[in-house]
Amino acid sequence: MSLKGVVLAGGLGKRLYPLTKITNKHLLPVYNKPMIYYPIQTLVDAGIQDILIVTGGNHAGEFLRLLGNGAQFGLVHLNYTYQEGEGGIAQALGLARHFVGKDKVCVILGDNIIEKGIRDAVEEFRTEERGAKIMLKKVKDPERFGVAEFRDGKIVRIVEKPKQPKSDHVVTGIYMYDAGVFDIIRTLKPSRRGELEITDVNNEYLRRGMLSYSILKGWWTDSGTFDSLLYANNLVARLEGS
Ligand code: G1P
Repeated sequence: MSLKGVVLAGGLGKRLYPLTKITNKHLLPVYNKPMIYYPIQTLVDAGIQDILIVTGGNHAGEFLRLLGNGAQFGLVHLNYTYQEGEGGIAQALGLARHFVGKDKVCVILGDNIIEKGIRDAVEEFRTEERGAKIMLKKVKDPERFGVAEFRDGKIVRIVEKPKQPKSDHVVTGIYMYDAGVFDIIRTLKPSRRGELEITDVNNEYLRRGMLSYSILKGWWTDSGTFDSLLYANNLVARLEGS
């Protein structure tokens, strides 16, 4: 069984209007590269070669122009698919069903940028026969994310953007699943924001006793708001700049 990679780069990026009026959020610059370069590199560095980009919105063609077959990442081929509208992360992942087939999948959100790699967690997940693994990170503003609640060191619940977070460990946009994820996605109902939530998927794995986690090393940020985009630019500049 192999492990495939999926980068989710759809949506309309409304939190970044008007920057995203004439382009896709994931094509915006983060220091010296387009945002989507970072999650692709994260997968490639973890040894994942077979990658699907899920894009959407009005500027999907630009991804092909920018990335082609992925030669700049040492890839010989890239796969693409298109998400209509804004159905959420879980709906976007659902579009990868045929690509993943009976294999396992590592999913990364196209606006998640990390300092170090995920190779160790990916290697660990490769040896697991089934289930799911999420990557957690301790942050100062957990209410912006999916928050993990713990009892005796074990996750008991994940709550999406709680007003009063029960921990400071949040679920980053890096998820690993077996092929069973696609049947779970089919059972989901849209949330209050009208999306199929990846948090509901993770809670279902949790309910089945099949969810493990790793803590991400180094810094992590999303880059989908003005502040987090600026923050991401500064972090990468410090890492790569002169
Ligand atoms: C999404 C997930 C959230 C997760 C975050 C990571 O939030 O719903 O659980 O913590 O990505 O970037 P969104 O960016 O859709 O608001």
